[in-house]
Amino acid sequence: NWPEKVTIKEVGPRDGLQNEKVIIPTQRKIDWINQLSDTGLSYIEATSFVHPKWIPQLSDAVEVAKGINRNPDITYAALVPNQRGLESALEADIDEISVFMSSSETHNLKNINKTISDTFPVLKEVIDSAARSRKSVRGYVSTVFGCPYEGEVSIEQVFKVCDQLFEYGINELSLGDTIGVASPRQVALFLEQAVKRYDIDRIALHFHDTRGMALANVLKSLDYGIKTFDSALGGLGGCPYAPGASGNVATDDLIHMLHNMGIHTGIDQGKLIGAASMMQRFLEKPLPSHQMAVYNAQ
Ligand code: HMG
Ligand code: MG
Repeated sequence: NWPEKVTIKEVGPRDGLQNEKVIIPTQRKIDWINQLSDTGLSYIEATSFVHPKWIPQLSDAVEVAKGINRNPDITYAALVPNQRGLESALEADIDEISVFMSSSETHNLKNINKTISDTFPVLKEVIDSAARSRKSVRGYVSTVFGCPYEGEVSIEQVFKVCDQLFEYGINELSLGDTIGVASPRQVALFLEQAVKRYDIDRIALHFHDTRGMALANVLKSLDYGIKTFDSALGGLGGCPYAPGASGNVATDDLIHMLHNMGIHTGIDQGKLIGAASMMQRFLEKPLPSHQMAVYNAQ
Protein backbone atom coordinates (compact mmCIF):
# COMPACT_ATOMS: atom_id res chain seq x y z
CA ASN A 1 0.00 0.00 0.00
CA TRP A 2 2.64 2.49 -1.03
CA PRO A 3 1.37 5.95 -2.04
CA GLU A 4 0.98 6.67 -5.75
CA LYS A 5 2.62 10.04 -5.45
CA VAL A 6 5.22 11.46 -3.08
CA THR A 7 6.04 15.12 -2.46
CA ILE A 8 9.70 15.95 -2.27
CA LYS A 9 10.79 19.07 -0.43
CA GLU A 10 14.16 20.16 -1.73
CA VAL A 11 16.30 21.51 1.10
CA GLY A 12 19.63 21.68 -0.76
CA PRO A 13 19.85 25.49 -0.94
CA ARG A 14 19.40 25.63 2.87
CA ASP A 15 20.43 22.38 4.61
CA GLY A 16 22.90 21.68 1.80
CA LEU A 17 24.70 24.99 1.59
CA GLN A 18 24.68 25.71 5.35
CA ASN A 19 27.11 22.82 5.81
CA GLU A 20 29.60 23.69 3.03
CA LYS A 21 32.88 25.35 3.97
CA VAL A 22 32.83 27.42 0.79
CA ILE A 23 30.46 30.34 0.61
CA ILE A 24 28.72 30.29 -2.76
CA PRO A 25 28.33 33.79 -4.27
CA THR A 26 24.76 35.09 -4.11
CA GLN A 27 24.20 35.19 -7.88
CA ARG A 28 25.26 31.53 -8.17
CA LYS A 29 22.79 30.53 -5.47
CA ILE A 30 20.10 32.38 -7.38
CA ASP A 31 21.08 30.70 -10.66
CA TRP A 32 20.99 27.30 -8.96
CA ILE A 33 17.59 27.82 -7.36
CA ASN A 34 16.25 29.04 -10.70
CA GLN A 35 17.54 25.87 -12.30
CA LEU A 36 16.00 23.76 -9.51
CA SER A 37 12.72 25.56 -10.16
CA ASP A 38 12.74 24.10 -13.66
CA THR A 39 13.00 20.44 -12.60
CA GLY A 40 9.39 19.83 -11.57
CA LEU A 41 9.97 20.32 -7.84
CA SER A 42 6.96 21.83 -6.07
CA TYR A 43 8.78 22.95 -2.92
CA ILE A 44 12.20 24.50 -2.39
CA GLU A 45 13.64 25.59 0.93
CA ALA A 46 15.65 28.46 -0.44
CA THR A 47 17.57 29.85 2.51
CA SER A 48 17.59 30.61 6.22
CA PHE A 49 16.99 33.83 8.15
CA VAL A 50 19.20 32.86 11.07
CA HIS A 51 22.00 34.89 12.65
CA PRO A 52 24.76 35.42 10.06
CA LYS A 53 27.41 34.69 12.67
CA TRP A 54 25.89 31.28 13.33
CA ILE A 55 25.50 30.37 9.64
CA PRO A 56 27.67 32.71 7.52
CA GLN A 57 27.00 30.59 4.42
CA LEU A 58 23.43 31.92 4.27
CA SER A 59 23.97 35.52 5.37
CA ASP A 60 22.64 36.70 1.98
CA ALA A 61 19.17 35.24 2.68
CA VAL A 62 17.23 38.40 1.79
CA GLU A 63 19.15 38.93 -1.47
CA VAL A 64 18.67 35.30 -2.48
CA ALA A 65 14.95 35.28 -1.65
CA LYS A 66 14.41 38.53 -3.52
CA GLY A 67 16.65 37.57 -6.44
CA ILE A 68 15.17 34.23 -7.50
CA ASN A 69 12.45 33.93 -10.14
CA ARG A 70 9.31 32.83 -8.36
CA ASN A 71 7.58 30.02 -10.15
CA PRO A 72 3.94 30.31 -8.99
CA ASP A 73 3.65 26.49 -8.90
CA ILE A 74 6.45 26.25 -6.33
CA THR A 75 6.41 27.02 -2.61
CA TYR A 76 9.62 28.78 -1.59
CA ALA A 77 10.32 28.33 2.12
CA ALA A 78 13.02 29.40 4.55
CA LEU A 79 14.11 28.71 8.12
CA VAL A 80 13.18 31.33 10.70
CA PRO A 81 14.40 31.02 14.32
CA ASN A 82 12.74 34.08 15.87
CA GLN A 83 10.86 37.33 15.33
CA ARG A 84 13.96 39.07 13.98
CA GLY A 85 14.29 36.37 11.31
CA LEU A 86 10.59 36.56 10.53
CA GLU A 87 10.84 40.30 9.79
CA SER A 88 13.49 39.57 7.16
CA ALA A 89 11.50 36.65 5.76
CA LEU A 90 8.43 38.85 5.39
CA GLU A 91 10.48 41.62 3.83
CA ALA A 92 11.67 39.07 1.28
CA ASP A 93 8.09 37.77 0.90
CA ILE A 94 9.02 34.13 1.38
CA ASP A 95 6.01 31.80 0.83
CA GLU A 96 6.35 29.53 3.84
CA ILE A 97 8.07 29.93 7.19
CA SER A 98 9.89 26.98 8.76
CA VAL A 99 10.43 27.12 12.49
CA PHE A 100 12.78 24.62 14.06
CA MET A 101 13.86 23.20 17.38
CA SER A 102 15.20 19.95 18.80
CA SER A 103 13.60 17.24 20.86
CA SER A 104 16.82 16.94 22.91
CA GLU A 105 17.81 19.69 25.32
CA THR A 106 21.54 19.82 24.52
CA HIS A 107 21.22 20.00 20.75
CA ASN A 108 18.56 22.68 21.11
CA LEU A 109 20.92 24.70 23.30
CA LYS A 110 23.91 24.27 20.99
CA ASN A 111 21.89 25.03 17.86
CA ILE A 112 19.67 27.92 18.91
CA ASN A 113 21.16 28.96 22.24
CA LYS A 114 18.04 28.31 24.31
CA THR A 115 16.49 25.64 26.46
CA ILE A 116 13.48 23.81 25.05
CA SER A 117 11.10 25.58 27.41
CA ASP A 118 12.55 28.99 26.49
CA THR A 119 12.20 28.14 22.79
CA PHE A 120 8.45 27.48 22.88
CA PRO A 121 7.32 31.09 23.45
CA VAL A 122 9.75 32.34 20.78
CA LEU A 123 8.32 29.95 18.20
CA LYS A 124 4.75 30.65 19.28
CA GLU A 125 5.30 34.34 18.61
CA VAL A 126 6.74 33.57 15.15
CA ILE A 127 3.86 31.22 14.30
CA ASP A 128 1.25 33.76 15.45
CA SER A 129 2.86 36.62 13.51
CA ALA A 130 3.27 34.45 10.42
CA ALA A 131 -0.43 33.57 10.60
CA ARG A 132 -1.33 37.27 10.80
CA SER A 133 0.73 37.79 7.64
CA ARG A 134 -1.09 34.84 6.05
CA LYS A 135 2.01 32.69 5.80
CA SER A 136 1.85 28.99 6.43
CA VAL A 137 4.31 27.54 8.90
CA ARG A 138 6.17 24.27 8.85
CA GLY A 139 7.75 22.96 12.04
CA TYR A 140 10.97 21.00 12.18
CA VAL A 141 11.75 18.82 15.14
CA SER A 142 15.38 17.67 15.19
CA THR A 143 17.20 14.77 16.87
CA VAL A 144 14.04 12.63 16.74
CA PHE A 145 15.99 9.38 16.40
CA GLY A 146 19.06 10.39 18.39
CA CYS A 147 21.07 13.35 19.61
CA PRO A 148 24.81 13.84 19.08
CA TYR A 149 25.16 14.89 22.72
CA GLU A 150 22.55 12.83 24.57
CA GLY A 151 22.14 9.66 22.53
CA GLU A 152 18.67 8.22 22.22
CA VAL A 153 15.70 10.53 22.78
CA SER A 154 12.49 9.01 24.16
CA ILE A 155 9.40 8.94 21.95
CA GLU A 156 7.48 10.71 24.76
CA GLN A 157 9.98 13.56 24.70
CA VAL A 158 9.71 13.88 20.90
CA PHE A 159 5.90 13.85 21.07
CA LYS A 160 5.93 16.52 23.76
CA VAL A 161 7.73 18.92 21.39
CA CYS A 162 5.67 17.91 18.32
CA ASP A 163 2.37 18.26 20.23
CA GLN A 164 3.28 21.77 21.30
CA LEU A 165 4.17 22.88 17.76
CA PHE A 166 0.92 21.46 16.37
CA GLU A 167 -0.98 23.22 19.13
CA TYR A 168 0.65 26.51 18.07
CA GLY A 169 -0.66 25.94 14.55
CA ILE A 170 2.06 24.54 12.30
CA ASN A 171 0.56 23.04 9.16
CA GLU A 172 3.22 20.38 8.70
CA LEU A 173 5.72 18.65 10.96
CA SER A 174 9.09 17.57 9.62
CA LEU A 175 10.71 14.88 11.76
CA GLY A 176 14.48 15.18 11.55
CA ASP A 177 17.03 12.41 11.83
CA THR A 178 19.64 15.12 12.23
CA ILE A 179 22.71 12.89 12.52
CA GLY A 180 21.50 9.94 10.46
CA VAL A 181 21.30 7.37 13.25
CA ALA A 182 17.85 5.95 12.57
CA SER A 183 17.34 2.38 11.44
CA PRO A 184 14.21 1.03 9.73
CA ARG A 185 13.29 -0.75 12.96
CA GLN A 186 13.47 2.47 14.93
CA VAL A 187 11.49 4.29 12.23
CA ALA A 188 8.82 1.59 12.41
CA LEU A 189 8.60 1.77 16.21
CA PHE A 190 8.28 5.54 16.03
CA LEU A 191 5.79 5.75 13.14
CA GLU A 192 3.64 3.00 14.60
CA GLN A 193 2.74 5.50 17.32
CA ALA A 194 3.07 8.74 15.36
CA VAL A 195 0.52 7.79 12.68
CA LYS A 196 -2.07 7.15 15.38
CA ARG A 197 -1.34 10.44 17.08
CA TYR A 198 -1.06 12.83 14.10
CA ASP A 199 -2.71 13.37 10.74
CA ILE A 200 -0.42 11.47 8.40
CA ASP A 201 -0.86 14.10 5.68
CA ARG A 202 0.84 16.60 7.98
CA ILE A 203 3.96 14.55 8.61
CA ALA A 204 7.19 14.68 6.64
CA LEU A 205 10.38 12.77 7.28
CA HIS A 206 13.79 14.41 7.05
CA PHE A 207 16.53 11.80 6.88
CA HIS A 208 20.24 12.44 6.87
CA ASP A 209 22.36 9.70 5.33
CA THR A 210 25.32 9.73 7.70
CA ARG A 211 25.31 5.93 8.11
CA GLY A 212 23.90 5.03 4.69
CA MET A 213 20.45 4.23 6.11
CA ALA A 214 18.37 7.07 4.68
CA LEU A 215 16.81 5.25 1.70
CA ALA A 216 16.04 2.22 3.86
CA ASN A 217 14.34 4.56 6.30
CA VAL A 218 12.34 6.20 3.51
CA LEU A 219 11.20 2.77 2.35
CA LYS A 220 10.05 1.90 5.86
CA SER A 221 8.23 5.25 6.13
CA LEU A 222 6.39 4.51 2.87
CA ASP A 223 5.05 1.34 4.51
CA TYR A 224 3.41 3.61 7.08
CA GLY A 225 1.84 5.82 4.42
CA ILE A 226 4.22 8.79 4.70
CA LYS A 227 3.97 10.85 1.50
CA THR A 228 6.35 13.75 2.07
CA PHE A 229 10.13 13.62 2.32
CA ASP A 230 12.83 16.26 2.60
CA SER A 231 15.99 15.72 0.58
CA ALA A 232 18.94 17.66 -0.79
CA LEU A 233 20.18 17.42 -4.35
CA GLY A 234 23.39 15.44 -4.70
CA GLY A 235 23.33 14.49 -1.00
CA LEU A 236 24.51 17.87 0.27
CA GLY A 237 23.58 18.82 3.82
CA GLY A 238 24.26 18.67 7.52
CA CYS A 239 23.93 20.74 10.65
CA PRO A 240 27.09 22.60 11.74
CA TYR A 241 25.88 22.35 15.36
CA ALA A 242 25.51 18.56 15.27
CA PRO A 243 28.99 16.98 15.20
CA GLY A 244 29.25 14.19 12.65
CA ALA A 245 26.08 15.15 10.80
CA SER A 246 26.46 14.74 7.06
CA GLY A 247 24.30 14.99 3.96
CA ASN A 248 20.56 14.66 3.60
CA VAL A 249 19.19 11.78 1.60
CA ALA A 250 20.01 12.80 -1.98
CA THR A 251 17.05 14.01 -4.02
CA ASP A 252 18.44 12.32 -7.13
CA ASP A 253 18.85 8.95 -5.34
CA LEU A 254 15.45 9.29 -3.72
CA ILE A 255 13.58 9.90 -6.96
CA HIS A 256 15.56 7.16 -8.65
CA MET A 257 14.22 4.73 -6.06
CA LEU A 258 10.66 6.11 -6.06
CA HIS A 259 10.35 6.19 -9.84
CA ASN A 260 11.62 2.63 -10.03
CA MET A 261 8.90 1.65 -7.55
CA GLY A 262 6.29 3.28 -9.79
CA ILE A 263 5.77 6.19 -7.39
CA HIS A 264 5.38 9.59 -9.03
CA THR A 265 7.16 12.74 -7.89
CA GLY A 266 6.63 15.09 -10.85
CA ILE A 267 10.38 15.64 -11.01
CA ASP A 268 12.48 15.25 -14.16
CA GLN A 269 15.54 13.14 -13.34
CA GLY A 270 17.58 14.50 -16.27
CA LYS A 271 16.94 18.13 -15.33
CA LEU A 272 17.76 17.33 -11.73
CA ILE A 273 21.12 15.88 -12.72
CA GLY A 274 21.72 19.06 -14.72
CA ALA A 275 21.12 21.16 -11.60
CA ALA A 276 23.39 18.87 -9.56
CA SER A 277 26.23 19.21 -12.06
CA MET A 278 25.86 22.99 -11.90
CA MET A 279 26.44 22.83 -8.12
CA GLN A 280 29.43 20.50 -8.64
CA ARG A 281 30.98 23.21 -10.80
CA PHE A 282 30.32 25.88 -8.17
CA LEU A 283 31.72 23.76 -5.34
CA GLU A 284 34.51 22.37 -7.52
CA LYS A 285 33.98 18.85 -6.21
CA PRO A 286 31.80 15.85 -6.96
CA LEU A 287 28.55 15.66 -5.00
CA PRO A 288 28.23 12.54 -2.82
CA SER A 289 25.05 10.96 -4.25
CA HIS A 290 25.03 7.61 -6.06
CA GLN A 291 23.37 9.10 -9.13
CA MET A 292 26.09 11.71 -9.42
CA ALA A 293 28.77 9.03 -9.06
CA VAL A 294 27.19 7.24 -12.03
CA TYR A 295 26.90 10.50 -13.98
CA ASN A 296 30.49 11.53 -13.22
CA ALA A 297 31.80 8.13 -14.32
CA GLN A 298 30.23 8.48 -17.78
P1 HMG B 1 21.37 34.44 20.06
O1 HMG B 1 22.78 34.96 19.96
O2 HMG B 1 20.95 33.74 21.31
O3 HMG B 1 20.33 35.61 19.69
O4 HMG B 1 21.12 33.49 18.83
P2 HMG B 1 19.71 36.74 20.57
O5 HMG B 1 18.26 36.63 20.42
O6 HMG B 1 20.31 36.75 21.94
O7 HMG B 1 20.21 38.06 19.80
C1 HMG B 1 21.58 38.43 19.73
C2 HMG B 1 21.81 39.36 18.55
O8 HMG B 1 21.57 38.62 17.34
C3 HMG B 1 20.89 40.56 18.48
O9 HMG B 1 21.63 41.62 17.89
C4 HMG B 1 19.81 40.14 17.52
O10 HMG B 1 19.19 41.22 16.83
C5 HMG B 1 20.60 39.30 16.54
P3 HMG B 1 22.21 42.83 18.79
O11 HMG B 1 20.99 43.39 19.44
O12 HMG B 1 23.14 42.14 19.76
O13 HMG B 1 22.86 43.67 17.77
N1 HMG B 1 19.74 38.31 15.91
C6 HMG B 1 19.62 38.11 14.58
N2 HMG B 1 20.20 38.67 13.52
C7 HMG B 1 19.83 38.24 12.30
N3 HMG B 1 18.91 37.28 12.08
C8 HMG B 1 18.30 36.68 13.13
C9 HMG B 1 18.68 37.10 14.43
N4 HMG B 1 18.26 36.70 15.65
C10 HMG B 1 18.92 37.45 16.54
N5 HMG B 1 17.39 35.72 12.92
C11 HMG B 1 19.73 32.38 17.22
C12 HMG B 1 19.91 32.79 18.67
C13 HMG B 1 18.57 31.42 17.15
C14 HMG B 1 19.46 33.61 16.39
C15 HMG B 1 21.05 31.69 16.76
O14 HMG B 1 21.36 30.69 17.67
C16 HMG B 1 20.94 31.11 15.40
O15 HMG B 1 20.84 31.82 14.41
N6 HMG B 1 20.97 29.74 15.27
C17 HMG B 1 20.76 29.09 14.01
C18 HMG B 1 21.52 27.81 13.94
C19 HMG B 1 21.20 27.12 12.63
O16 HMG B 1 20.81 27.74 11.67
N7 HMG B 1 21.39 25.78 12.59
C20 HMG B 1 21.14 25.00 11.42
C21 HMG B 1 19.71 24.90 11.04
S1 HMG B 1 18.81 23.68 11.96
C22 HMG B 1 19.10 22.19 11.12
O17 HMG B 1 19.95 22.14 10.27
C23 HMG B 1 18.26 20.99 11.42
C24 HMG B 1 17.20 20.70 10.34
O18 HMG B 1 17.79 20.53 9.08
C25 HMG B 1 16.40 19.44 10.70
C26 HMG B 1 17.29 18.25 11.04
O19 HMG B 1 18.14 17.86 10.24
O20 HMG B 1 17.10 17.72 12.14
C27 HMG B 1 16.21 21.86 10.23
MG1 MG C 1 18.69 18.71 8.34
